[in-house]
Order: sequence, then structure tokens, then C-alpha cells
Amino acid sequence: MAKKKKEYECQECGYRTAKWVGCCPDCETWNTFVEVEKENKKETKSSRTREEVYAKPVNSISNENFERLKTKISEFDRVVGGGLTKGSLSLLGGEPGVGKSTLLLEICGNLAKNNPHGKILYISGEESESQIAERAKRLKVNCENLYILHETLWQNILEVIKKEKPIFLVLDSIQTTVSAEIMSASGTVSQIREVTYELMNHAKAMGITCFIIGHVTKEGGISGPKVLEHMVDSVLYFEGDQNNYYRLLRVHKNRFGNTFEVGIFEMTETGLNEVVNPSLYFLEKSFEGAYGRSITTILEGTRTIFVEVQALVTENKYGNGRRTTQGIDNNRLAMLVAIVEKYFEIPLSFHDIYLNVVGGIKLDKRDSDLSIIASILSSYYSKPLDETTIFLGEVGLTGEVRKVSMLESRLKEMDLLKYKRLVTSKHITEEIEKKYNLEVLKIEKVTDLKKVFVKYQPNKQNEYQQSEKVN
Ligand code: TYD
Ligand code: MG
Repeated sequence: MAKKKKEYECQECGYRTAKWVGCCPDCETWNTFVEVEKENKKETKSSRTREEVYAKPVNSISNENFERLKTKISEFDRVVGGGLTKGSLSLLGGEPGVGKSTLLLEICGNLAKNNPHGKILYISGEESESQIAERAKRLKVNCENLYILHETLWQNILEVIKKEKPIFLVLDSIQTTVSAEIMSASGTVSQIREVTYELMNHAKAMGITCFIIGHVTKEGGISGPKVLEHMVDSVLYFEGDQNNYYRLLRVHKNRFGNTFEVGIFEMTETGLNEVVNPSLYFLEKSFEGAYGRSITTILEGTRTIFVEVQALVTENKYGNGRRTTQGIDNNRLAMLVAIVEKYFEIPLSFHDIYLNVVGGIKLDKRDSDLSIIASILSSYYSKPLDETTIFLGEVGLTGEVRKVSMLESRLKEMDLLKYKRLVTSKHITEEIEKKYNLEVLKIEKVTDLKKVFVKYQPNKQNEYQQSEKVN
């Protein structure tokens, strides 16, 4: 028997070589080559031949194909731009256990309920039929027109698709599906590329709306070649922390809508619930007189969400204080601590600082700088901050407070939720200020934060005894 020929394939971009190499000559990533069997697909000529084609004026093209399939899960429909476009192919990525299968099974259930005359097909190569049925029972997804298939071979899946002619299908996951045409193992670049290509061609021809689930790599991207993300119409990521119940659905690419919206869900015992009104979802009432906490707002898509930043500053006699953070980058805290040390003249190297963003939210934008500093000062001076005050502003290295983006939409939400005061940069127009029923304390330098603390009776060590009066 002739020996099977081997070659090596980059798992990042699909580049093939006859010999193993450490660094891919094409995409320059390291240690991505695995041994695969040589592809001996016969060279075939393209089936297309030359024909007459014409370009059309843009206004003459109707967009009747843009019909949307609504899931009636409003958070989901909003994120994908008002429902799934019929015949589109989408990709959902996320960490293991975050709830990808749960979300798509719920979507299947809703679509099945709303489209009683169409079939919905859930194909899983990861879980057995009884496991999925058990989960469906828990999620109360029990429509007659929802079909389950446990299969990993693409050719068998295709036969079922042709037979059942579903209107919507889910493939869970692309990494477990293999094509008999390709000799390499499941999850390799060539398998992923082949199965996606096949699915895309058949689904588009039959007008089936499809969702594929993709595993993520250590770095957080969807594993497999980038070409996978190029091929599909939309790419969504489901994010969340194992220790928290909330989940965020983000769009990274959308050919039929914007990529700005974020959907917020909560994982419960009976599946995912949408958080339709998330503004105050991450806040809890604290006891009176609690210090080391302040409230800021972040933007998730077009939504304004209020989050609490907690700091604990304790003395460390030996210097070289420890910094422990949750929800913000350690380097960013180091920078903000340096700003406090310099401009407030506080020796924070003799203090340990613990910083936590409540609810597992990540503060990756600079507009929460002012709130982080306010929390640190509040803990250092053991002075509580008013619960109805919002801190919003980026702090520069020279101690200046900078303006934040989309201030007006944040102000609107603060006003709506009866917050009383906003501490922010001086770059806020009087016109906007007057529009809302909020007291705005405009500060130019970070040291002006002292004005906020003056309101409280200083204790014996308080250095604010001589500080200026509130203007
Ligand atoms: P799953 O959808 O299997 O995650 P993925 O497909 O992304 O790997 O979700 C798994 C987790 O969700 C599991 O740890 C348990 C939790 N879960 C609930 O808390 N409630 C539920 O109703 C379901 C179905 C799952
Ligand atoms: Mg799963």
C-alpha cells in the first residue's frame, strides 16, 4: 500500500509546508503547525464560464431579500439589527460554559414557536440527543417543529438538511464537524474552512438562516482561520464571567446592521433571561456611611449602565504596598495611584490598595478614572461619598480632568433615575447642563475633588481641614 503523504498546516491561516516550521511564513504566528495528510483533491476547472454581466444603478436594486426572522428575544433581535436576516450565516463564539448552546437552543425554541409552519434544526456534535432534549425541557423549549440531530459528519448532516428543509439551523460546533472529503482531523483549519464553505453554499442556495457555534482560543478569538470570520455575515461573541450571572452578547461584524449594540442577559436555573432595563442592574444599595465607594457610568452599546467602584486602602508599614484589582487593569491603577500620590501628596506606597468593580463588570475605558480616584480617596480618608453623586471623567498625567464621550445620553439616564449630582470636567456646555435637573460640579484639576469631600465633617487626621470652601 502506498504510504500516505504528510505535510504541515498552520492552524491560524491554513498555510501548508512540506517540513515543520516554528514560525508561519505567511501569518508570522509561532507554534501553529500540525501534521496533516496531504490533500490530493484533483484540480478541477471552475464550473463557471464567461457570460454577459451588467452593473446596475443602486436605486434600481430592490432590497426585498432583507426580510428579518424575529426571535422575539428583544435583546437578541436588537443586537443583530432587528432580527436575523433571512438566509444569513452567523457565527457565535465564546468561552466554554458561557452559555452559547443554551442561548441558541432558546432562540431555536422561540423561532419554532413563532414559525409553526417551518422546521427548526439544532445539530450538535458535542452533546447527545438526550442531553439536548433534557436541556430543552429545562428551558421549556418543547415545540413540535424543533428537530434535534446528533451528528458530526458533514455529508450526513447535509442529507438531513436536504430532507427536512429547515428555515433555521444551528451547527454546534464548527470544530466538531468533519467532512469526509478532507483527510485531516476535526477542528483543523482545512476542516473548518471546508465545512463552513459547504454550509454557506448549500444554506444560501436553500435560503436557510444559519448559526454556527465556534470555540475560542486562549487569546479569546474564535479558533480557526480568520477566513472563517470573513466568510460569515455576522460574528457575535458571548461574554461573561464564570463567577457572575450576567452575560454580554457583542457583535464584532454585521453585514446587516451596526456593530455597536450589546445585549445583556442573566443566566438562571431555567436558562437565560434578558435584562431589558440594565441601568441599575449592577448596583445594590449600600449601608449608610460606607466609605471607599463611588458610582460612575459606562456605555455598553447605546445603553448607560451605572456601576460601583470600590476601593480599600490599608496601611502597610513596610512600604512597597500591594495593588490588587478586579475589573480594571493593574497598570491603569498604578498610573492613577501615581497621580493621587503626586497631586494630593499622599504616600500611597505605604498602603495596600484593593480595587473592585461590583458585579464583575470590566472598566476598560478611561472615563471612569475620576470615580476610581474618588473611591481611593474616600477609603484613605474614611469619608463616605454621597450615593446620589456620579463621577465621570478621564484624568490625565498632569492631573487635568478630561471630558467623556456621549455625555448627554448619560445625563439623560441620570436625570431619569433621580441622581442628584455629577462631578465631571469643565467641558460641559451650559445648554446641556440646564436641560437636566442635576447639580453639575465642574472640575478642572483632579485636586478639585477635595471640594466633594469638604461637604463632610473632617476627622482629626484629615488634611482637608484647610481646604478651600465649596464654591
Ligand atoms: P452551555 O450553553 O452548555 O455553554 P457553552 O455551550 O457555551 O459551552 O452552558 C453551560 C453552563 O450554563 C453550565 O455551566 C450551566 C449553565 N446553565 C444554567 O445555569 N442554567 C441553565 O438553565 C442551563 C441550560 C445552563
Ligand atoms: Mg455548548
